[in-house]
Amino acid sequence: MHSFDKDADHLAVDKVLDYARERLLMDPIPLDGAQTQDYLRAVAGETITRQGLGSTRAMELFEHTLAPACLSTDHPRYLSFIPCAPTREAAAFDVVVGASSVYGGSWMEGAGAVYAENQALRWISDLAELPESAGGVFVPGGTVGNLSALVVARHTARVRATEAGTGARPWRIAATDNAHSSVVSMAAVMDAEVCGVPVDEKLRLTGAELRRTLEEYGPETFFAVVATSGTTNFGVVDDLASVAEVCREYGLWLHVDGAYGGAGLAAPSVRHLFDGIEHADSFIVDPHKWLFAPFDCCALIYREPELARIAHTQEAGYLDVITKSAEWNPTDYSIGLTRRARGLPLWYSLAVHGTDAYVEAIESTLEVSRFAADEIGRRDYLEAVREPDLSVVVFRRIGWEPKDYQAWTDRLLAEEFAFVVPTTFRGETLTRFAIVNPHTTKEDVNAILDTMS
Ligand SMILES: Cc1ncc(COP(=O)(O)O)c(C=O)c1O
Repeated sequence: MHSFDKDADHLAVDKVLDYARERLLMDPIPLDGAQTQDYLRAVAGETITRQGLGSTRAMELFEHTLAPACLSTDHPRYLSFIPCAPTREAAAFDVVVGASSVYGGSWMEGAGAVYAENQALRWISDLAELPESAGGVFVPGGTVGNLSALVVARHTARVRATEAGTGARPWRIAATDNAHSSVVSMAAVMDAEVCGVPVDEKLRLTGAELRRTLEEYGPETFFAVVATSGTTNFGVVDDLASVAEVCREYGLWLHVDGAYGGAGLAAPSVRHLFDGIEHADSFIVDPHKWLFAPFDCCALIYREPELARIAHTQEAGYLDVITKSAEWNPTDYSIGLTRRARGLPLWYSLAVHGTDAYVEAIESTLEVSRFAADEIGRRDYLEAVREPDLSVVVFRRIGWEPKDYQAWTDRLLAEEFAFVVPTTFRGETLTRFAIVNPHTTKEDVNAILDTMS
C-alpha cells in the first residue's frame, strides 16, 4: 500500500480527483436521496475485504451507489434544516486541505494556515465590531462552538468567584426555548442547567425578561447567557442590545449563537438587527451554513481570547514545546487537540472573491427570502407564521394536517424535485424554507409553492 509505483499512484489519485472535479463543476446538481439499508446491502454489498476492491471498483461504488444515496445539500431546492452551499472555490480548496497534510493546531506546525484562518476570523470579528484583541478558532460546528464558549464562560465565572472570595459555583445558563437544541445538549455534557427565559411577542430574548429570570433564580447561580442571532426554526435575532445591557449589569458572560444567522452581519439590509453584538464575550457563526464554506466549519470568536486559552489549554510534557511558546495555537481555544485547518476553504474563497462578493451573495438570498414571504402572502392557500428577520420563512398550508405535510415532503423528494421538511411550532405542524443558497431562485420558490395548491 505504501510502496511507490508511479503509474498506479497516478491512477489512484486521478480517479479521486477526476470525480471531485466532475462533482465540483456539475450543473445542474442532482438532488438524490437516501436508500434503505437493504438496498445498499444488496447493491454495494461488503465493501471492506481482505484483498481490497482496488481504486476503480471502490470509486465506481461511491460514484454510482453511495453518492446518489446522499442528498445534495447544495441543490437549489434543498431548503430544509440549514443547507450547505459552498462556493466552487471553497469546496475545491477543501480537497487541497485534505491533500496537504497541514496540521492546524499549532503555529509551530501550521503557521501559514493559522495566519490565513486568523485573517478570515478577523473579517468576522470586524463585522461584529469586536475589539482588535478578539480572536478564536474554527471548530467543527455550532455545537462544539457553543460548548467550547460555555466551558470558558463557566471557568471564568468560577475563577472570578474564587478570587472575590464569594465561594459561588455558578452552574446555570439563561436562554430561551428557541435557542438551538445544542445549548441544552451541551449543558448536559457540562452538567449545567439551562433556565428558560420567556420570549417577547416577536419570539426574542429581551433584557427585561432576562432580568426577571435572573432575579427569580438568583443571579449568582448563572455563569452565562446565550442569545441567538438567527434562531434555527424562525431566524429570529434576539434583542442583543438590551440583553447585553443586563449581562453587563450582572457581570454575566454573553455568548451569541449566530451559527446560522451570524452571516447576516455582512448584509447592510439586516445589520441593524444585530446591534449590541459588539458586547458579546463570545460569538459563533458557521461558515458551512450561510457563508458558503463546505462542512464542517464554525468560527468561534472570543472578546478576550486569553480567557479561552486558560480554560482550554491541554498540559502535557510532550506538548510543552507548543504550550510554552508565545505563538497563537488554535488548539488552545476550544475543546479538542488535533485539528484540521478547516477555516482554509472559507479563507481561500474570501481571498479569491473579496468580501463584497459575500455581501452581495448574502443579500441575494435575503431578497429571495423576502420574495418567498410575499408570495406566501399572495396565495390564499398559504399563510406566513411570522415575518422573516433573515432567510428562514415559516408558513402553513391552510387546511393541511401533519400527514399532509409529510406526504407532500415525501412526494417532492421521491420526484427529486425539492427537499422541504415539516417543522413544528407550539404544537402545530408547519413547513419552512431556509434559503442560504445563492442558486435558489425566485422561480424555485414559486415552483415549490405551486405544488401546495
Ligand atoms: C442557531 C444554531 N446554533 C447551533 C447549531 C448547531 O450547529 P452544528 O450543526 O454546526 O453543530 C445550529 C445548527 O443548525 C444552529 O442553527
